[in-house]
Amino acid sequence: MERQVNLTTDQLRRLANFLQKSCGIFLDDKKLTRFQRKIETIVHEYESGDFNRFYHRLRFAGDKELVQALINAVTINETYFWREHEQFRILVEEILPSMVDQNRLRHIRILVLPCASGEEVYSIMLAILDKKGLLERLNIELIGVDIDTDMIKMAKRACYSQRSVSKLPKHLVDSYFTKDKGSYCFDKELVSLVQFFQVNIFEENLKSRLGEFDIIFSRNMLIYFNKEDKRRSLERFHSLLKSGGYLFLGHADAGMLDRSMFEPYVSGFQVYRRN
Ligand SMILES: C[S@@+](CC[C@H](N)C(=O)[O-])C[C@H]1O[C@@H](n2cnc3c(N)ncnc32)[C@H](O)[C@@H]1O
Repeated sequence: MERQVNLTTDQLRRLANFLQKSCGIFLDDKKLTRFQRKIETIVHEYESGDFNRFYHRLRFAGDKELVQALINAVTINETYFWREHEQFRILVEEILPSMVDQNRLRHIRILVLPCASGEEVYSIMLAILDKKGLLERLNIELIGVDIDTDMIKMAKRACYSQRSVSKLPKHLVDSYFTKDKGSYCFDKELVSLVQFFQVNIFEENLKSRLGEFDIIFSRNMLIYFNKEDKRRSLERFHSLLKSGGYLFLGHADAGMLDRSMFEPYVSGFQVYRRN
């Protein structure tokens, strides 16, 4: 759609301030310039370019649809299959086997927050499927959540570009994907085993909504937060994890982890254990 509005730096900063407070997304001037066109298109679509009306609707009327449109426009959703895959090896060769109970089929809950378009969740599933004997001994529940509703739709659709699957071992692509007009679509039956929904890590009642987990993957989101929001996020992971549960972070997310909350499990791989 044609853009018919030019926002000033001050107006863009007011929107950035709102986003930072509501969902931790931190937009400095450089990122604001990068997303300016998208933001202006939304202001045009929702309030014909009238910034004051748009801002009022966002800030004071709490218009959820508009807030979501703005969030979806400015999230950075870069992801792909088998990203930082050494962690999946640690998961299936060390952590999950250590959770096996000889007397009963143990239920293990794994949360991927944020899951973006789903590649990380399905990579975890593929790593588990590829490790013989694991699925028979554990009842694994996989949940993927992200603040961006467009990403959640893509995760449920589960069809990906060649670039997205390019790091996956070939035997996994051959066994679990079908090619459809240039897209690689993940096995539908396996897709139906995962639950995906929209979540803001800073929303109230997160724990009553999601429950407790044995394992949380949170890779490449904290890197976009400021120090305070990173700390708040880590507190949330601590409260969502069962005692002794595992936290996987991205290589750029670690740092400032509070040792009273998390201990390194394998150094160098950003895998931590909740105290
Ligand atoms: C770069 S992607 C990382 C995806 C995947 N975990 C990976 O490492 O490949 C970052 C994701 O964080 C999500 N995100 C940003 N702020 C969030 C928040 N407050 N709550 C939940 N998800 C958020 C974005 O929508 C985006 O999809």
